[in-house]
Amino acid sequence: MSDPAQSSDDIAKAHKALSAWWEAAGVDVPPVQKPKKAAGQRQAAEPSAPRQAVAQTEEKAPPAAEPQAARKAAAKADNLETLKAALESFDAGPVKAGARNTVFARGNPKAKLMVIGEAPGRDEDEQGLPFVGASGQLLDRMLAAAGFGEDDVYITNAFNWRPPQNRKPTPDELAMTLPFLERHIALINPKIILLVGASPMQAVLGVSAGITRARGQWHEYAVKNADGTKSDQTIPALPTFHPAFLLRAPLAKRDVWHDLQSVVERLG
Ligand code: URA
Repeated sequence: MSDPAQSSDDIAKAHKALSAWWEAAGVDVPPVQKPKKAAGQRQAAEPSAPRQAVAQTEEKAPPAAEPQAARKAAAKADNLETLKAALESFDAGPVKAGARNTVFARGNPKAKLMVIGEAPGRDEDEQGLPFVGASGQLLDRMLAAAGFGEDDVYITNAFNWRPPQNRKPTPDELAMTLPFLERHIALINPKIILLVGASPMQAVLGVSAGITRARGQWHEYAVKNADGTKSDQTIPALPTFHPAFLLRAPLAKRDVWHDLQSVVERLG
């Protein structure tokens, strides 16, 4: 007979591995439910906390600076250099303090295609450039296969510092850097925005659906004025899977390939 303690260990391990796989795809994974208490032990039922709040408590992320402070700092930037300098001098709290570099962008600022990822990983933190590790190499290969050379894309992230233990940036952290990202998009003014993964999709488009359902569907992103209000201009934006997910689930490359073809068609 199998040892029940051993099988619960195996289940926990399997859940962890599967969660990592889904999280790489940008899918939110709920925590494992604790076994229900016996009726006599049960406390009064509480309304369930919003997912966002649960995620933040579990991650124990330090509080992020107020988005208003970021808006003020970003609004002053009228070119990429001043925007980068504003991010570098912005007091973003302990996550920034623990990172080696502020990861800003790479590629051609005049490119028609702007790619926005989630947050830097270890390699990006070390080099101070986005998407230079394994997932970045895959991203570059897929872009190149679709006809986008180094000079044809501009790449940045929704969050500019490596979160500890490579966790996802929290919604508060993404809200804090959003004013910088909105300014970044306005200054680059690309023809098309490709959002790789759930975090940039949710931050930029405010779409709360999971990436599996939302990928491949075009949106019109309203370009923001320096004060954060919407301008009349819009830019087509397409969410797709994150390349880190593709490294674990190569079959999903077909979907990303399809999305890249849609970008190519749209660019004419
Ligand atoms: N993943 C991202 O989303 N961005 C990077 O820069 C690297 C990995």
